[in-house]
Amino acid sequence: MPAPWHDGPMMKAARREPSGRVPVWLMRQAGRYMAEYREIRRDVGFLELCKTPELCAEVMLTAVERLGVDAAILFSDLLLILEPMGLQLAFPAGKGPVLQNPIRQAADVDRLAELESIDPLEFVVEAVRLTRAGLDDRLPLIGFAGAPFTLAAYAVEGGASRDYRRAKTLMYCDAGAWHALMTRLCRAIILYLNAQIDAGVQLVQLFDSWAGCLGTDDYRRYVLPYSRSVIESLAPGVPVIHFATGNPALLPLLREAGGSVIGVDWRVRLDDAWTAIGGDRAIQGNLDPAVLLTDPATIRRRAGEILDQAGGRPGHVFNLGHGVLPQTPVENAIALVDAVHELGSR
Ligand code: CP3
Repeated sequence: MPAPWHDGPMMKAARREPSGRVPVWLMRQAGRYMAEYREIRRDVGFLELCKTPELCAEVMLTAVERLGVDAAILFSDLLLILEPMGLQLAFPAGKGPVLQNPIRQAADVDRLAELESIDPLEFVVEAVRLTRAGLDDRLPLIGFAGAPFTLAAYAVEGGASRDYRRAKTLMYCDAGAWHALMTRLCRAIILYLNAQIDAGVQLVQLFDSWAGCLGTDDYRRYVLPYSRSVIESLAPGVPVIHFATGNPALLPLLREAGGSVIGVDWRVRLDDAWTAIGGDRAIQGNLDPAVLLTDPATIRRRAGEILDQAGGRPGHVFNLGHGVLPQTPVENAIALVDAVHELGSR
């Protein structure tokens, strides 16, 4: 007997099988826009929260219940994997994440330690187990990691960047150092995602949130082989959602790198994106998160437009094009989930 989640709308969509309704979940569905999350964060720093598996599970399970979404995602952060590799991570209040000792040049790449085992990230494995154990068994749990490029760019820039000039300089000037950096990250990501799979996630999402800063030739040369090697090295049978933002011209290349589901942002119409990706892959997206700052009627209309573009084809996972904005009224996020369930039912 397959587990109950196996034939729910989310897993069916990931396999492009028809199901009664379009599944919906939201990137950053647990976060500062939600009062229950802010309540927990009053007493606990973000890093401490990520390292307390019981709280990670609680935060995600609360969000899933409140929203009525069709999937949970591990509550964690993209950058935690870099800590046991020797980078000092901090989340200063009110600012984005910072790495205090970034890889600034080729000579620094050797400083990045090999992730030899999952032990230093055991809290993530435990968060997977606890979230899975507390989750309705009809709902799948999504694991995740940063894609090699996005992690490399963070490691080199040391934080958010407007132009990614340091990462690009290393990439363009020193192919050997770039290869060493990306290869080391790939091995770590594979270990990390397979550990999440062993601990009980049903799908994994690879976030290449910064890849959109690249043109197609550079993506093909400097990024695609690495993302592909990660996707090819994951336990078979676990659908991979491959997500990037910012540059719709990359979509055919994301598909080439792999993933049964390709995640798209709002800069491209969903039907055009699906044509670019090809009908033999599922698609996830792509409402502009800013639409959730409007009102339920507008949200419903905009969700309907995206569902119309999907045209009832199997293999559409409804999501935002990027994470929920902290200013989002929680009622609006709930209104979106309800609208997708109503308009996306057949
Ligand atoms: O989707 C979810 O609810 C699961 C949890 C999740 C978080 N981060 C929680 C979080 C996931 C999947 C991530 C991934 C992540 N982290 C990405 C990739 C996705 C994306 O948005 O492109 C990136 C780039 C990061 C790095 C990171 N961590 C950033 C840029 C920030 C935001 C900084 C800010 O102040 O807005 C974080 C912090 C973070 N990660 C928060 C949460 C809930 C907010 C922390 C807080 O202040 O409480």
